[in-house]
Amino acid sequence: MSELNNIALQIISDGKGILAADESTGTMSKRLENVGIESSAQNRLSFRETLFTADSMSNCIGGVILYDETINQKSKNKKIPEIISDQGSFPGIKVDTGAKTIAGSEEEKVTEGLDGLRERLKIYSDLGAKFTKWRGVYIISNEYPSKLAIHSNSHALARYAALVQEANMVPIIEPEVLMDGEHSAKECYNKTSDVIKKCFEELILNKVDLTGIILKPNMILAGNKSKKKISGEEVAKLTIECLKKSVPKEVPGIAFLSGGQSEIEATENLHLINKFNTTKFIMTYSYGRALQQGALKHWSKDLKDIEGTQKIFNHRAQMNTLAAQGKWSKEIEKK
Ligand code: 13P
Repeated sequence: MSELNNIALQIISDGKGILAADESTGTMSKRLENVGIESSAQNRLSFRETLFTADSMSNCIGGVILYDETINQKSKNKKIPEIISDQGSFPGIKVDTGAKTIAGSEEEKVTEGLDGLRERLKIYSDLGAKFTKWRGVYIISNEYPSKLAIHSNSHALARYAALVQEANMVPIIEPEVLMDGEHSAKECYNKTSDVIKKCFEELILNKVDLTGIILKPNMILAGNKSKKKISGEEVAKLTIECLKKSVPKEVPGIAFLSGGQSEIEATENLHLINKFNTTKFIMTYSYGRALQQGALKHWSKDLKDIEGTQKIFNHRAQMNTLAAQGKWSKEIEKK
């Protein structure tokens, strides 16, 4: 077993999942302002630290994805990556610098951040990061994602992953097909398959060790404005079929993004995926909003109520960890 495969497995085995706390300052500011909280560096840290010191970190959260600001912050003289490692979880870091409009396109984006990446990876590794994340984002319409968008993002994801492995860290590879729009689940299935297949073509070309990565895809869902919603069982079956056909068998695990699903929906769909999973891939979560929403709402009403906020976060993490083992139920959710 390679060292990278070993780290990847430790992050996602036994129902453990990933806490995506890597919102850029712009995105985090929107999240905080939405609940009436001023987005100061201290407030951003206080909320995140409340999650990182919760009990569920040690038995549910195998890894935390941080943003540059947070990986450089300290609390009570302890570095944030150290607080995470002390909980038995792995600190990770988002290393892309965001999605920018493709030249000549009005809507499609390509993710940037390759320039100087090798040097930045060294700094993050020295700060304690054991894994990294890069997100390529796609919109769906009749003509999108275009061949150009798929080619550009797959190429960037593969060059990113090769550099990350060279620096002895596990790359999380996130090609996200957004759920925004009126498209059907079948369209999401077809377009997600195209995007993932092309991504692996490029990863192989760049000699990335597929046993030392974690794939972070979207689930197969109908668009959020679609009139043809599908059941959780159908989401699970389509998602499994799509991944079975487009992901090479060497990949140890898949950690889904929540992408705008509600907390319960994201948990239930993950549970059903694991219930029906006929592949050897570990299927778990790497949720941002679907792990944090309830806790953030509670915290915003009383910034001093750390215990109450952690209680809500612990419950969400435990529910998702059960879902990652196919052991969740509506009854357990309510307890
Ligand atoms: P969501 O789970 O909120 O979609 O965030 C996951 C993530 O890391 C997006 O890049």
